[in-house]
Formats: sequence, C-alpha cells, structure tokens
Amino acid sequence: MAMIAKQCPDIQVHVVDLNQARIDQWNSDTLPVYEPGLDEVVREARGRNLTFSSRVETAIRESNIIFIAVNTPTKSFGIGAGRAANLEFIEKCARQIAECSSGHKIVVEKSTLPVRTAEAVKRILNSSAKDATFDVLSNPEFLAEGTAVQDLLKPDRVLIGGESIEAVERLAQVYGRWIPRERILTTNLWSSELSKLTANAFLAQRVSSINAISALCEATGADIDEVARAVGSDSRIGSKFLKSSVGFGGSCFQKDILNLVYLCEHFGLREVAQYWEQVVTMNDYQKRRFSERIVRTMFHTVSDKKIAIWGFAFKKDTNDTRESPAIHICRDLLEERARLVIYDPQVPEKQVRSELEAYFQDASGRLSDTHKGLIETNVSVVKDVYVSALDAHAIAVLTEWDEFKKIDCARIYEGMRRPAFVFDGRNVLDRKAWLDQGFEVHSIGRPGIT
Ligand code: UDX
Repeated sequence: MAMIAKQCPDIQVHVVDLNQARIDQWNSDTLPVYEPGLDEVVREARGRNLTFSSRVETAIRESNIIFIAVNTPTKSFGIGAGRAANLEFIEKCARQIAECSSGHKIVVEKSTLPVRTAEAVKRILNSSAKDATFDVLSNPEFLAEGTAVQDLLKPDRVLIGGESIEAVERLAQVYGRWIPRERILTTNLWSSELSKLTANAFLAQRVSSINAISALCEATGADIDEVARAVGSDSRIGSKFLKSSVGFGGSCFQKDILNLVYLCEHFGLREVAQYWEQVVTMNDYQKRRFSERIVRTMFHTVSDKKIAIWGFAFKKDTNDTRESPAIHICRDLLEERARLVIYDPQVPEKQVRSELEAYFQDASGRLSDTHKGLIETNVSVVKDVYVSALDAHAIAVLTEWDEFKKIDCARIYEGMRRPAFVFDGRNVLDRKAWLDQGFEVHSIGRPGIT
C-alpha cells in the first residue's frame, strides 16, 4: 500500500488495523518491520496520501477499492488442523465490509488463500442486507522479504483475477502507473488464487530439491555449490533458488504447501497431495540432519558446551523469524542441553525468546518447567558477533547475513575452545580462510574437512 501511495500521489491510501500499537509503530520513526528501502517509501507518502489508523469503518465507507490483507495462519485446531488455512480473519473482514459499505466497492484479496475463497467472500458480501454492490478480485503478492521494495518497483508480473472486466481494469490502471502493461496478467479468480500457491510450492520445491542433493554430496564427496552451478547453467533450469541451506523458512512456503496438500486431499487427489507434502518432509529432514551433524561431529555430545548461533532470521535483510530454521536447530541443541549464545543483527532478544518458548509449547500451549528453565539458563542473546564466540566450542551459521563473510576469523579463533568447530548452514564463510586458520569446517553439501 505504501508503494501504491508513493507511485500514485493522487490516490488516497488508508491503511487500517485493529491493533492500535501496530498502527502507532507505522506512524513513528521506527517501522515495525525491517525492510531495506521501506523507510524512504513510507516517509515520502505518509501524511501526503498515506495514512495509518484504526478507524476501520470510516476507511471502508470512504474507499472505492478495499484490499484485504489479514493473516491466514495454518489452522491449529479442528478439521484440517496443521494443514488448512484459518480463514476466520478473512471472513470477519468480509462481514465488516458488508456492514459498513454503501454504493459499489471493489474488494481485493491480497492475503494468500486457498482456491475458491473469493467465492466465499463474494457470497458473504452479497448476502448483506445493505444495498451495496461488490466486485471481488484476487491480487496475490509475490514480493520476497528483504527485497520487497525492489520487487514492488519492478515486479516480474502483477496478477489480477476476477470476473468483472471493469473491476479488473480499474485495478490494472492503478498498477499501470508504474508497471508496464504486458507485466499485468489477468486471469479468472481461481487461476489467480491457485497461481500464488503454485509459485510458492515450485520455489520451495527447488530449495528442497537442491537440499536433497546436498545430503548425497556430503556422502559422496561432491560439492553442492559446484553441482548447483553446473545444473543452473542449463537455461531450461536457471540459476536462481538453487542455494543449498539449512532449510527454508518464512511465513509462506510451508503454510502454502500445506494448504495445497489439504486442497488436494479435499478433492481426493491423494498422489498429488503426497507429492507436494514431500517438499515439506525434505525440509524437516534438512533441519534435523544439520543439528544431528553438529552433535555427531562434536564427539556425540554438546551437553554443557557453548555454541555460538550466528543468525536467527529466516533469511538475510529481514527481522522476520517466522518458521526460521534457526528455531528448529536451537530447539534440537537445547534438547541436547547445549548452551547457546545467539547473535543476529536485526532480531531483538525478546523475539528470540518468545519464538523458542512458542516452539517448545505442547499442543495445548503449555510450556513445561524444564523447557522454560532451559530457555532461561541455556540461552543468551548478544549484540556483538565476536562476543558470541568467546569460549565457544562451536559456531553454527544459520542466516546468510553479509557481515558474516567479512568476519576476522583469526580474532574469532583466538577466543574459542579447541578443536574449534564451524558449521556453516548457509555456505557463506570463506571456507579456505577458515580452514587455514585452524578451524574444523563443516558446510552444507560438502564432506567435513579438518
Ligand atoms: C517467498 C516468495 O519468494 C515470494 O514470492 C512470496 O510472495 C512469499 O514467499 P520470502 O518468504 O520472503 O518470499 O523469502 P524467499 O526469498 O522466497 O526465501 C524463502 C526461504 O527459502 C528462506 O528461508 C531462504 O533462506 C530459503 N532459500 C531461498 C534457500 O534456502 N535457498 C535458495 O536458493 C533460496
């Protein structure tokens, strides 16, 4: 919405949320998300034609086009628990829009939704007792975190799905102010909804594919980065999204694939469901394999050993930790009674602790005294990467922050226990330099070398 406001100064954009604290942050100098370039975009438009408030009803009444961008987390209860999307917030939004509207409104689904949700939204809107009329469009977002501003300025494509040609055209005109028309694709509602799930499933599948091969590389002596380069040079395959890692994270990939799996099962497509579910299974395996490798390499015990964790965000250039592989690795190591010293340039200590607490909770949301105690006593969070490695037995790199590439490995080596182990879960360190320094380096998709 900030980008639309920036690019179209004559369009009034009202961003509304029930959460007043969140709105206050959007109105302050410290935005609630860390995203390179976003501060400038918001600063340019805020107060001019971009407002943030909790006046939901007024905004609905005053707007011609209403974007629904609420979260659709995986259901944690009832039918489809652990797989299906929780559509509670979407439905509440649709009902509120129906309540407050008059005249004609275009309602745009921005949240990623299971196929045919627009149909439900349409029915809720049209069953309102009021005399308002509605067109429903699907306009999924393809930006990636960390590169959001660039992705929004120059998207590969904008996708608009809908039945009404006039409504589709109206929204296309908004994007058309800065995006070439040939990049604005129009489809029917369901194709648009399904395209978003499919794009995320394909991207995640590439990561799981290369990660599956990384396990084979470690066993055979092949090098995953060399394999990725050779494979990616085939123009039919392409080089992007072939970086082997400790596993994919983020708010979308796992959720959307599970959503797809649930949909396939719902339509009786068992083989299709199993095919896509394997992408998530492989990702779980990759995370587990990494922590098991740490324990196995460190003489089968990490109990009471200090391990520096470098990076907690799910990828670089974001402070987002949702589904971050770091949470899984830290939990496994804590179960083994390791002492963790966590460093991430953007993630605050409070967030690290609450993610770990949430992950240790049982199905009813209870955190056992043992786990609570473990997080309190065995986890510390520091603001200096060099401090994190002092007296440590090992370092585990879990996010590919650029600053890790420039670290003075001699200084780190000085302060560490021997043998000094490094587990590079993102293959970002200069392996030769660290080996020459005396470290025992274990990378993804390469056999360990001492
Ligand atoms: C993703 C989609 O890219 C985006 O189009 C969609 O709108 C939302 O979901 P995002 O979750 O922000 O975006 O991050 P992305 O860059 O796709 O990375 C997802 C995860 O995969 C990260 O944990 C990342 O580290 C990992 N990854 C990505 C790899 O491990 N290897 C790669 O080669 C690429």
